[in-house]
Amino acid sequence: MHAPVRKLSLVVVGAVLGALIAASPALAGNAGFAPVTPDSPNAHTITDAYWFITGFALFVLVGVEGLLVTFIVRYRRRNRARDAEGPQIHGSTRLENMWTLIPVVILVAVAAFVFVKLPGIKNVPSANAAAGRLEVTVSGQQFSWQFTYPNGAVAIDHLRVPLGEPVHLTVTAPNWDVIHSWWIPALGGKIDAIPGRLNHTWFTARKLGTFSGRCAELCGVQHAAMLMTVEVLPRDQFEQWEARRAQQQTSGTARDTLGEEEWTGSCGKCHGLAGQGLYGPRIAGSGTLQDETALTKLLRNGLERPGRPAMPPVGREWSQDQLDALGAYLKERFGSQS
Ligand code: CUA
Repeated sequence: MHAPVRKLSLVVVGAVLGALIAASPALAGNAGFAPVTPDSPNAHTITDAYWFITGFALFVLVGVEGLLVTFIVRYRRRNRARDAEGPQIHGSTRLENMWTLIPVVILVAVAAFVFVKLPGIKNVPSANAAAGRLEVTVSGQQFSWQFTYPNGAVAIDHLRVPLGEPVHLTVTAPNWDVIHSWWIPALGGKIDAIPGRLNHTWFTARKLGTFSGRCAELCGVQHAAMLMTVEVLPRDQFEQWEARRAQQQTSGTARDTLGEEEWTGSCGKCHGLAGQGLYGPRIAGSGTLQDETALTKLLRNGLERPGRPAMPPVGREWSQDQLDALGAYLKERFGSQS
């Protein structure tokens, strides 16, 4: 290739790459750079730390790359002979002190900031007289999130909480399951859901509405479907919901609330939302739905199928009320089809 042609193609490639790099943040939405707007004090602190560290990172990037480009232009060969020796420089105490001290100062600043802010991210605020503190157990399993409230109410994939009150989450996973990760970006950082281990996190939602998140640990074939939402309600509405859900469970009338959530969250992701079969086999019209004992056995023990994906024992830790709610829903929705 002739030199001018090679030069031109280099410039074109450079321009295209530059345009792609410049455009990608805009295409990613949220400028592709900023974290989501935090709506809980701990999420706010995480965002502060992000910007603090980003400031230094940009300073280093601009400083180093700026000097690099300046030196390339300023000290390029020009018309000097290829074998001409440059000036021989032996050390510069001032320069060496600077490039040692500046990084030390940056690292100390970052460490100090993070250690000062860490308790505000990690520690659950204690309950005070003005506001209570809601305790919820979060259990991640392939491929749904189960929430258990203090009064026994259970919900799947959709966590309801009162506005402005600290919510303490105990995050875990059943013994037979795999590791998942709880993450609602606007309401705090990630926390792993590890089989047999209790991890803790919290948030205090500062506005009404629905926040979404996703499992942040690759956990299996339907990992991408392991989504969850947090709905922030006024205190009285939340209390009504919690009481009603618990009452429905104990009175056997949770078919269209908890039962449906169990179907959509625990079963439908593998068996298809219409029971048509997806990763798991077809459910619609299956005789097992009519046989309460067989269904309970299947949910409690799962099923090994040689050469095919096994069904996990999704209902092993479920209460009888939970099993009943799902059984009633399945029977109603799919029992008569064939
Ligand atoms: Cu659970 Cu990914």
